Amino acid sequence: STFTAVVPAAGVGKRMGSTVPKQYLTLAGKTVLEHTLERLLAHDAIAQVVVAVSPEDAWFDALPLAADPRVLRATGGQERADSVLNALDLVTSERVLVHDAARPCLTMKDLDALLAASVHPQGAILACRVRDTMKRGDGKGAIRESVSRDELWHALTPQCFATRTLRQALSTALSAGHTVTDEASAMELAGFYPVLVEGRSDNIKITRPEDLALAGFFLQQLKESFT
Ligand code: CTP
Ligand code: MG
Repeated sequence: STFTAVVPAAGVGKRMGSTVPKQYLTLAGKTVLEHTLERLLAHDAIAQVVVAVSPEDAWFDALPLAADPRVLRATGGQERADSVLNALDLVTSERVLVHDAARPCLTMKDLDALLAASVHPQGAILACRVRDTMKRGDGKGAIRESVSRDELWHALTPQCFATRTLRQALSTALSAGHTVTDEASAMELAGFYPVLVEGRSDNIKITRPEDLALAGFFLQQLKESFT
């Protein structure tokens, strides 16, 4: 079966602090968004990509990929979840993948692993184990306690779900006023528990200025090892 990928790309990149939103910064000769779209479209199982773009966006239409028949444009919203919901309106496939525009270092192998797990009825997400010792703070600057690392994971993207279930879960979470920073949290609120698919820790989300150079380094490494 084939999948549609939804790519939320309507953020302003506040933490990045650049004038151009981070998805349009240049990395190894092309924009971050182009790297991300090319990686998704390189997979045979991904037939279409819906990109959620801000109404104020001045960059998307200038990308050669914007004219690709496999690439559709949706209107971004106030929060990431609004952008994803808008994009879902254009999705006709039974299953959908959601992947951050700001995560250009996704490998085919991780994508394969996620798609293989997509048969799971409650969904599947790429994730990686935390590596540092974890502490819970007391809210006043001191440690309250250590938190066991064994059960803690970083939630990455892509995340894969049944399209109908995700649409329902996101709109319910939004109307209830919940902050949803990833699709899995909306699913959890609806009582679904997606499986964790262990992926690479270099599948980073470009968030702060130093992440751009890091992503450039990871992309170069991936290119050299053909992953
Ligand atoms: N995103 C979106 N619509 C929004 C907010 C975010 O489509 N209203 C997208 C971003 O473009 C990004 C992804 O969601 O690809 C992950 O969000 P994040 O890393 O938080 O990006 P920004 O919101 O742009 O950054 P910041 O939070 O620092 O402002
Ligand atoms: Mg954000």
